[in-house]
Amino acid sequence: MKTILVVGGAGYIGSQMVKQLLATGNYHVVTLDNLSHGYRDAIIGGDFVLGDLADRTGLDHLLADYQFDGIIHFASFIEVGESMQQPGKYYQNNVAGTLNLLDAIISHGAPPIIFSSTAAIFGEPQYTPIDEQHPTQPINPYGKTKWMIEHILADYGRAHQLKFTCLRYFNAAGADPEGQLGERHQPETHLIPLVLQAASGRRSHLTIFGQDYDTPDGTGIRDYIHVYDLCQAHLLALEQLWQGADSTAYNLGNGTGFSVKQVIETANLVTGNTIPIVMGTRRKGDPARLVADSTHAKLKLNWQPQYADLTTIITHAWQWEQQLIR
Ligand code: UFG
Repeated sequence: MKTILVVGGAGYIGSQMVKQLLATGNYHVVTLDNLSHGYRDAIIGGDFVLGDLADRTGLDHLLADYQFDGIIHFASFIEVGESMQQPGKYYQNNVAGTLNLLDAIISHGAPPIIFSSTAAIFGEPQYTPIDEQHPTQPINPYGKTKWMIEHILADYGRAHQLKFTCLRYFNAAGADPEGQLGERHQPETHLIPLVLQAASGRRSHLTIFGQDYDTPDGTGIRDYIHVYDLCQAHLLALEQLWQGADSTAYNLGNGTGFSVKQVIETANLVTGNTIPIVMGTRRKGDPARLVADSTHAKLKLNWQPQYADLTTIITHAWQWEQQLIR
């Protein structure tokens, strides 16, 4: 049985990853999380270690206690707006924290690592769909932290024979198909949970951030990818590294863009409610359209998304929202 460390395994995507790893029956899973944004009750099995990436000594102890065969690293701050206000918080946690993790890893046998990167490394798209060759020019500190870590990984890879895969997520969405896990960000800034909170009555309305974009209905277009499919890609990427593949990066999305208005219309159908909307102005730093070209992941990882359909993504997220308000 292989042992896998999930860093940030109490968060939205990390906890789903832990569940999917355990479901295979093939892995011993250890979660490291500082519970600053994650939830203890989201870790449904395996071992849990309370700890922080700032604590290098703690990381050394953890890596000495277990012989990890692979590491999946989700732990980071993710709010673009906050990163503009408090860049230091992002560089400290995301970049310096990851450096501590990498230094601990290379001094304990350098097991391969899967890193949560983001479409934000591309900045304002020069073309869509966005493939791996698209220039990377992040426009906010959050995106820059992820871009820096990709470069740090490349250097560590060369110098220390560390194998890694960077997965650039587009818009992670949906919830555990079995209804056990889902998104619980505080504060919530993501479109689909906000729309569903407006549908369930937890919020009075949803504000549409701009309707003057150069898109068919004027609202922003994004590529929503189901959290389950995202986690499957991590497992495939890790297996690929174990089989001897070179370090690489993949863009992960469904290749189809949906506008804010299309998301709201689909949510109206799924929930049977008419979601109250308010027209607002653009949110700073939001590009008009972000859509992934995931051909590389499909070909090289044999990644086959199971829940690519927006209605299914919103249905699973709605199941979760209904559990939260119960
Ligand atoms: N939106 C609204 N109203 C809201 C919230 C969002 O209209 O209340 C719109 C946004 O303007 C955007 C779309 O809904 O057009 C999606 O917004 P999200 O906040 O859900 O997601 P983002 O595309 O802004 O961000 C996501 C991830 C980031 C990552 C980024 C990649 O959450 O971590 O994709 O660029 F950096």
